[in-house]
Amino acid sequence: MDGIGNMDVTAAILSEPDGPFTIEQLTVEQPRAGEVLVRIVAAGMCHTDAAVRSRDLPTPLPVVLGHEGAGVVEAVGAGVTKVAPGDHVVITVNSCGQCDQCLSGHPSICDMIFPLNFAGSRLDGSHALCGHEGLNDQFFGQSSFATRSLAHERNVIKVTKEVPLELLGPLACGIQTGAGSVISGLRVKAGESFVVFGSGAVGLSAVMGAHVCGAAIIIAVDINPSRLELARELGATHVINGRTEDVVARIMEITGKGIHHSLDTTGNLAVIQSAIDCLRPGGVCGILGASPPGAALALPVGPFMSMSKTLRGIVEGDVVPEIFIPQMIALYQQGRFPFDKLIKFYELDQINQALEDSEKGVTVKPVIKMPA
Ligand SMILES: NC(=O)c1ccc[n+]([C@@H]2O[C@H](COP(=O)([O-])OP(=O)(O)OC[C@H]3O[C@@H](n4cnc5c(N)ncnc54)[C@H](O)[C@@H]3O)[C@@H](O)[C@H]2O)c1
Ligand SMILES: [Zn+2]
Ligand SMILES: [Zn+2]
Repeated sequence: MDGIGNMDVTAAILSEPDGPFTIEQLTVEQPRAGEVLVRIVAAGMCHTDAAVRSRDLPTPLPVVLGHEGAGVVEAVGAGVTKVAPGDHVVITVNSCGQCDQCLSGHPSICDMIFPLNFAGSRLDGSHALCGHEGLNDQFFGQSSFATRSLAHERNVIKVTKEVPLELLGPLACGIQTGAGSVISGLRVKAGESFVVFGSGAVGLSAVMGAHVCGAAIIIAVDINPSRLELARELGATHVINGRTEDVVARIMEITGKGIHHSLDTTGNLAVIQSAIDCLRPGGVCGILGASPPGAALALPVGPFMSMSKTLRGIVEGDVVPEIFIPQMIALYQQGRFPFDKLIKFYELDQINQALEDSEKGVTVKPVIKMPA
């Protein structure tokens, strides 16, 4: 702690587009009203972190990224009643809690989603982290690639102490997005059919979600055979290699007349087209992958209309995290949602290796453990 009460922090800083993370010593302010200081135990790495590095997202550099934090509450600011020091928390997407989307149970499309998650500062332009010239923070209201994170009453979710905290960060984004898209977004029903395109962290979480829902046919598509093997382990009834097989023809063969629900996690336009083409009459296709800026589909409108198909975007699984994150943990405790199989741990000083392994497809979900 320094003379003005700031706490020491070791953090990973990204300074250059496509550059490496560097580990630096900083300090963080004590929590202001509504804020929560969390000692981070571990934080998951997600493609949205990589999207800032590749400049597909405009969060300014230099910045401390990390948006799947898990840790222990150290201090709370004035007015905070949701959590207290010592509580275990997961830190999720930030939202305002006051707009009509937040109030109707869709906080992931909050009116304030950009300024609260991607602007690189608090709403008043101030920063919680100090000690590096021009540093941006507050990524997803947390910047959790650090030993301490200043989060908010809105985006901390209290979790049970019965499950190791170091596992839980990825529930805040990637796993919530995949499982939530199936359970809450598409609302897959027992006996129905489901296909996911792309079986990475999000796609495999969708497979687990479909298994929990009782889908009778669960198809996983990928171009990486090791991911398809893991998909089978997690509940896929069929797997298709998109590189060597005709995916739509195989889905028609398996289902007879097409799929009830498809979900694209690749953001690739040709793959999204397949996700639409494989629908049965009345079928619904969800898309959630990051596509290049300006990417557009050419949709033949006639057959889409006459077959009563639906295409929808889904952000963060369209869940209420306060409700959904504890539910995923309960399912995990019952052995019905084994998301730990996706995780590989790295120390903070191995964060560049974690990124490389994720981009090469070696690791499904890297989780960065913070030094004590
Ligand atoms: N909408 C949201 O709220 C939200 C939230 C989190 C992540 N995302 C996005 O979701 C996407 C998936 O994230 P992830 O962490 O699972 O990524 P990932 O890299 O772990 O998974 C993507 C998978 O797609 C596979 N793939 C690539 N091209 C393919 C093709 N042509 N056919 C079949 N499979 C193919 C890859 O082999 C990989 O396994 C990313 O674009 C990420 O930015 C969106
Ligand atoms: Zn994410
Ligand atoms: Zn809102």
